[in-house]
Amino acid sequence: MTTPKKLYIKTYGCQMNVYDSERMAEAMGGAGYVETDTPDDADMILLNTCHIREKAAEKVYSELGRYKHLKTEKPDLKIGVAGCVAQAEGDEIMRRQPLVDLVVGPQSYHRLPELEAKAGQGAKAIDTDFPTEDKFEHLKSRPKAKRAPAAFLTVQEGCDKFCAFCVVPYTRGAEVSRPASRILDEARELVDRGVREITLLGQNVNAYHGAGPDGGDWSLAKLIWELDRVDGLERIRFTTSHPNDMSDDLIEAHGTCSKLMPYLHLPVQSGSDRILKRMNRSHDAASYLALIDRIRAARPDILISGDFIVGFPEETDQDFQDTMDLIRAVNYGQAFSFKYSTRPGTPAAERDQVAEDVKTDRLAQLQSLIADQQKSIQDSMVAKTVSVLFERAGRFDNQMVGKSEYLHAVHVSDTDAKVGDIRRVRITQSNRNSLNGELAD
Ligand code: SAH
Ligand code: SF4
Ligand code: F3S
Repeated sequence: MTTPKKLYIKTYGCQMNVYDSERMAEAMGGAGYVETDTPDDADMILLNTCHIREKAAEKVYSELGRYKHLKTEKPDLKIGVAGCVAQAEGDEIMRRQPLVDLVVGPQSYHRLPELEAKAGQGAKAIDTDFPTEDKFEHLKSRPKAKRAPAAFLTVQEGCDKFCAFCVVPYTRGAEVSRPASRILDEARELVDRGVREITLLGQNVNAYHGAGPDGGDWSLAKLIWELDRVDGLERIRFTTSHPNDMSDDLIEAHGTCSKLMPYLHLPVQSGSDRILKRMNRSHDAASYLALIDRIRAARPDILISGDFIVGFPEETDQDFQDTMDLIRAVNYGQAFSFKYSTRPGTPAAERDQVAEDVKTDRLAQLQSLIADQQKSIQDSMVAKTVSVLFERAGRFDNQMVGKSEYLHAVHVSDTDAKVGDIRRVRITQSNRNSLNGELAD
């Protein structure tokens, strides 16, 4: 028997990259590779990269630099770059870092085994096309091994919105939805492998409009209702949504579909109408707030999370205060916030930039406000009973860690709960980024 070769994958960026890395590992399994968790003994290293901000992209080059000695020790080692940096700067990667043997863009992962074989013959291999075939169809998973109880499932990819700051429409291409039947098959397969919670992924997940088995186009809400009928699947989530695609049927599902969890990531980016316009977001602060009201009317306890950019070109103090006002009006349970980062080729890169120290100051103010909101929402959970899906053992004996329906991390001590159990838990304490509780069932 030939000993399997070892593949080390390092994943950066969003959940879609996490999902893609799993698919690539499975595809390379068919080419004789097993995964390893260290680059040191790998026969192939694959960096699945993110291009969203400058720092994210630069990390790739510093990581590649670290592999120089490995390649010297093992000349057969293959080094590949996948993901959004590969898509955006494929040729430049090859030029800047001669260690790299292959570059593969997010839409070409099904060609990875082929590219690996080509790289094995000493050639450099690059594929950053946007092919028309469904890459996921070619990346069907083979192994039927048991899985962790919570899994991602990509349903939609790409974006046609072209926000003025964002590289995603360029790196992931035009918006494409997978056919509903493939998603349902994959969901059933995940459930057979022990999955109880599925998070549907898409850069614009609520714009989903996949072909349904009935011949019509299915909305995300329709897909969720079909998933609701899958026995053994207990929880459904989706991310990331755009405010403009928050359709009536999806809002209603939040009120009526018991498997759909009360958590919604709905990025707004800014609270200033002037900046939102310059961002090409095609919604304003008032329409976003009205939308939040409608979602809360459907599901009053829903936890809202968001994304914010501070220091977008031309952002004034007043614009920033408008963002702070919007945050106060919404009351976020969680949020990601970033200093604006210039991305070559996007419209905003050409505009008047805000000074770095101003960005730093605004980010600190915004993050402090969000942290206060997050903590007070967490504190309000104390003495309440939530349902927790247990995902892993904790650091202490008989301690288990899971997620509540609101996506709070919950630690339970001295428990007989097992990975994959969903149990009622009474919250006893609110910490900085998690809750403690005790079984209540
Ligand atoms: N598709 C999602 C998110 C895409 S990227 C959406 O539409 O919301 C995730 C987040 O990164 C964005 O929501 C935005 O807040 C941030 N981001 C994107 N481009 C950025 C840039 N150039 N500088 C700083 N943050 C950025
Ligand atoms: Fe980027 Fe999201 Fe805007 Fe699309 S909608 S361009 S992914 S921020
Ligand atoms: Fe990054 Fe690409 Fe995701 S740029 S955030 S890995 S879509």
